[in-house]
Amino acid sequence: MNSIEPETCKQPSPFHPDNESAYQQWRDRKLENYPEDLGGLVVEIDDPRNLTQAEFDALLQRARKTNMAIYAGKTGSDPDPQIPLAMAQQFGLQALNKNWLADDSGLTSLTVRDEGVRKHYIPYTNRAINWHTDGYYNIASQQIQALNLHVVQRAASGGENALLDHEIAYILLREKNPDYIRALMAADALTIPARIEDGKVARQEEPGPVFSITANGSLHMRYTIRVNNVIWADDPLTTDALACLKDILEGDSNYIYRGLLQPGMGLISNNVLHDRAAFSDDAQHKRHYYRARYFERLAGTDLFADD
Ligand SMILES: [Fe+2]
Repeated sequence: MNSIEPETCKQPSPFHPDNESAYQQWRDRKLENYPEDLGGLVVEIDDPRNLTQAEFDALLQRARKTNMAIYAGKTGSDPDPQIPLAMAQQFGLQALNKNWLADDSGLTSLTVRDEGVRKHYIPYTNRAINWHTDGYYNIASQQIQALNLHVVQRAASGGENALLDHEIAYILLREKNPDYIRALMAADALTIPARIEDGKVARQEEPGPVFSITANGSLHMRYTIRVNNVIWADDPLTTDALACLKDILEGDSNYIYRGLLQPGMGLISNNVLHDRAAFSDDAQHKRHYYRARYFERLAGTDLFADD
C-alpha cells in the first residue's frame, strides 16, 4: 500500500524519487520547447463535437506536452451539453464523476446561484477559488485524473483562470530538494478530516499523498492551497515542501498560464493545478462554465504512450 512504484509499471518511473537518471532524461525532454504562454495551448477548431484529425492531433500534441490543451470552437454561448461531452469522448473519457450537485447530463454547471443548496459552495458564487487540483477530498480509489471545462458564457469582468501543469510543479520542487518529493509522496501527506453529522462519522477521514504514480506510470497530484478543513503531515520536510510549492504558485513563474476563456472555448486536462479569479456578472454576461471530472486520463497522454 505504501509502495510508490506500481507493480504494473513496466519501466522505471521518472517520478520515483530514487530514479535519478530516468528523471533527468524525462525532465530534459519535458522542458524542451515547453509552451511559453497560454496561447501555446490554444487550437482553433470548427465543431468540438466532431473534430477533424488535424484538430484532434493538435490538441493531443499539446496535452501530451503540458497535460492540457485549450480549444477555441465556434459554438459561442450554445449551452448544448453534448459539446463538452463529445469533446471528452473523443479523448477516451467515459467515467464521469457525477457529484450530487451535477446536472442530469452528469456535467456540473458552474454559475452563480442565489438560492438553494448550491449557494453555500464557493464554486457557485462569484468569489475567487485558490490553487487546487479537483477532487482532492475524494477517496483514494476515486481520484480525478482528468478535468475539463467548457465556457458557455464569461462574466462581465474577472473570472480569469490560472493553470500550472502539475508535472512542472513536480520538477520545480524536485530541483529544489528531492526530499520534498519524498515528503509529498508520503501516504499521509494530506488528510481530509472525517465529516461528523449528528455525532456520527458520516465519512471517514481520508489520508493520502500529494504526488502519486498511477498504474500506467503517470503522475497524479492531489492538492489544495487552502489550510482550513485539511490536515497536513506535521514534519519539517513537509512544511518546507509546502512553503516552496506555495511560493511557486503565488510567484510569477513563466510556467503559470493566466487568461480569460471566451464563450465556445474549453480546457481539456489531466487535472492540472488551477485557480479562478473573482468575477462580476451583468445581465448579458452571467458566467457559465460546464465542468466535467473523469476517473481516467486523456487517452494517449500517458507517460509511456507510444511516440
Ligand atoms: Fe477546480
